[in-house]
Amino acid sequence: MRIAVVGTGYVGLVTGAGFADFGHDVTCVDIDETRVQKLRTGEVPFYEPGLHDLIKRNTTLERLRFTTKTAEAVAGAQIAFIAVGTPSSPDGSANLQYVLDAAKAIGEALTGFTVIVTKSTVPVGTGDKVREVVKAVAKHPFAVASNPEFLKEGDAVNDFRKPARIVVGVDDPKALDVLREAYRGIVRTNDRLHVMDVRSAEITKYASNCMLATRISFMNELSRLCEMVGADIEAIRKGMGADPRIGNKFLFAGAGFGGSCFPKDLRALVNTAQGHDVALGVVEAAVRANERQKKLLGEKVLAHFHGNLNGKRIAIWGLAFKPETDDIRESPALVTIEQLQKAGATISGYDPEAMPNIKAQLGTTIELCKDAYTAASGADAVVLVTEWHELRNPELNRLKSVMKSPVLFDGRNVWSPEEVRAAGFTYYGIGRP
Ligand SMILES: NC(=O)c1ccc[n+]([C@@H]2O[C@H](COP(=O)([O-])OP(=O)(O)OC[C@H]3O[C@@H](n4cnc5c(N)ncnc54)[C@H](O)[C@@H]3O)[C@@H](O)[C@H]2O)c1
Repeated sequence: MRIAVVGTGYVGLVTGAGFADFGHDVTCVDIDETRVQKLRTGEVPFYEPGLHDLIKRNTTLERLRFTTKTAEAVAGAQIAFIAVGTPSSPDGSANLQYVLDAAKAIGEALTGFTVIVTKSTVPVGTGDKVREVVKAVAKHPFAVASNPEFLKEGDAVNDFRKPARIVVGVDDPKALDVLREAYRGIVRTNDRLHVMDVRSAEITKYASNCMLATRISFMNELSRLCEMVGADIEAIRKGMGADPRIGNKFLFAGAGFGGSCFPKDLRALVNTAQGHDVALGVVEAAVRANERQKKLLGEKVLAHFHGNLNGKRIAIWGLAFKPETDDIRESPALVTIEQLQKAGATISGYDPEAMPNIKAQLGTTIELCKDAYTAASGADAVVLVTEWHELRNPELNRLKSVMKSPVLFDGRNVWSPEEVRAAGFTYYGIGRP
């Protein structure tokens, strides 16, 4: 099957390379010429485990190609996936310009019946807008479907190969047949296709992200109560998570959620609901709780140093919005850094993958170091914001010997307070006594 994928970001590239690996003939298109040039020479523009090998194998087998011309990708394709960004507009709504531009370019490029599928996260009703835009320019029949993406950055290749579910929103049985055929190899052992109407599929994506984010905000708020009453959020998390009705995922209190999806998707769903005079109070509260939570680590550091960080050097461990990615969009680390700098601190930082992106955004305003211990050298405190594996078990004696004063702020509750305190550190976690 010939497949076109429009947009070569985290979603587009994983989708394109993933479908190619299942034997389809895929052309990915992007308006960013530099990105396409890099992809053609085998360079992956961001860090995603396993993706480099997947792209290399499938380009070598000539099942995966890259172009800047939508017409080249769409000609002869049975499916055209739209996987471009839907960033937040200033009012919180999803900016659909990239999606509608891509839809128009696909419409102009059609050479026969094609199923145009939005993989981007789009507000309810976008399917109709895509249909209108395509209809205005198309000279061939087409169908519009929704197939929202649920991959997790950091584990995206596995998510593509073994998705928990594939949500397909269709109004046209022919479109469903084509999508079933595309996903046949992936759902061979277990048909995880959830077929529904386009509008429900569009909302399923937002509902999922809002539910996951709400769980995190719930635990974060609870962790603040724990701190006031001397309870331990980690014990509570385990006690709650053992209930199969609750489950143990997404119950970690911490420095708040960030990334390119949760914050913007919550804002967008709230915006959609407001447009229909519907109150989504729970989601609004999850957003507010997260805004507060992202400031918590900075507030703890400030409280420890009595509000004055002049002359202090603070090391930030982990800069990406979560481990196993180099994505820093809305990363809590950015909020902490800004707070500490405003209070007069000098910041050193370390992240296994995100430092080039941090450098591009913050320039030389923070000192980026080759490893965690170099970042901690001469520091008055270390603040762990992102729990990369390599940061979970620091050599405590070595760490203490390089720091100016042994103070640790554990923004993800990954260290043992007892062990760390026994080694002579002052320890602050989230919601722990
Ligand atoms: N990143 C994730 O973890 C994730 C997971 C699930 C869903 N999503 C959703 O998927 C969508 C894409 O996210 P992403 O993180 O991959 O985005 P991204 O910002 O990493 O990449 C988007 C790409 O689209 C390209 N593009 C923009 N307009 C184009 C056009 N008209 N034609 C061709 N290319 C164009 C851009 O140059 C860019 O390379 C968003 O709606 C996002 O919410 C993202």
